[in-house]
Amino acid sequence: MKYKELGKTGLRISAVGLGTMVHAGHFGAMKDSESLSAIDTAFELGVNFIDTSDAYGAGYSETLLGNALKGRRDKVILATKGGNVMVGPNRGKRIFDADYISQVMDESLKRLQTDYIDLYQLHNPTVDVIEHGEVWQVLERAKQAGKIRHYGVSINTMEEGVAAIKDGRAETVQVEYNLLAQEPRETIFPLAEKANVGIIARVPLKRGILTGKLTVADETRFQGEDVRARSFKGEAFAKELAKAEQLKFLVHGPVKNLCQAAIAFCIAHPAVSVVIPGARNAEQMRENASGADVDIPAADTDKVAELWQRGFAA
Ligand SMILES: NC(=O)c1ccc[n+]([C@@H]2O[C@H](COP(=O)([O-])OP(=O)(O)OC[C@H]3O[C@@H](n4cnc5c(N)ncnc54)[C@H](OP(=O)(O)O)[C@@H]3O)[C@@H](O)[C@H]2O)c1
Repeated sequence: MKYKELGKTGLRISAVGLGTMVHAGHFGAMKDSESLSAIDTAFELGVNFIDTSDAYGAGYSETLLGNALKGRRDKVILATKGGNVMVGPNRGKRIFDADYISQVMDESLKRLQTDYIDLYQLHNPTVDVIEHGEVWQVLERAKQAGKIRHYGVSINTMEEGVAAIKDGRAETVQVEYNLLAQEPRETIFPLAEKANVGIIARVPLKRGILTGKLTVADETRFQGEDVRARSFKGEAFAKELAKAEQLKFLVHGPVKNLCQAAIAFCIAHPAVSVVIPGARNAEQMRENASGADVDIPAADTDKVAELWQRGFAA
């Protein structure tokens, strides 16, 4: 495993981490035994960063992790998030009021069965919250009290990422970054490098599209609460699959599959501290971690840049 610095936090973090949204059933039904095998394998392979949220399964992912980390809590840099409401009358809203975040942070600590969270992230705050929210004082007080060690944001838009870095309070920014979503490289990463803000690259496999295993026929599999049910449909899905097809040239020599290439691509950017693919089981965890063992040759990186610049047009 390769290790990097997580921005200015002083934490030494594995280049590949584990995203646990899948363990809460957001990618179809899950068995706890499979989730636990992914977590155990992460430890075996030197993966020391796990990302979760109180929103994943309305706390289910945190509860599972709390049980899984018994006796080895100190071996892992544990990151969670708050602000996305998943239960009660405010379900679906994002709330960053001081009282609300104080309350849900305490609930996360309980579910995780720990007295400290290494990284607490605001889960998709708006630019207004980032620039003017009273929530920052809550985070600073929690840090002083030892409940959290560091804090940052997980963002959706480039404007939010830029605002967070310019504001200067977030120590980390979590953002979608992958071969099919390279905008952060142009907008957020240069600022993050200058300010030494750690970048956590999420959705590196584009929810499976960048593993090379999906075809248009798979769209019928994604139903109900599966996060892919809406986006992996029709023309939009076919277009993304066609782009992934064009990226298969990356698989040669030591790069054995597209999944490895997709992860190695993210790690290669110096602004990126850690990549957090979701892993449903031990096998996926092993494959994802192996992305840290390969490098993309410069000529291939240039070709990826060219494909991106022309929007993957023929
Ligand atoms: N707003 C936010 O803060 C936010 C939003 C999204 C994600 N995240 C974080 O980022 C993490 C990663 O994002 P993600 O899980 O949405 O997307 P992802 O990592 O791109 O894709 C994960 C999915 O791809 C498939 N997969 C993973 N490894 C594989 C392998 N080696 N071979 C074949 N298939 C594989 C699995 O689904 P199947 O087995 O079903 O194919 C898995 O659930 C999340 O767990 C979460 O921690 C944060």
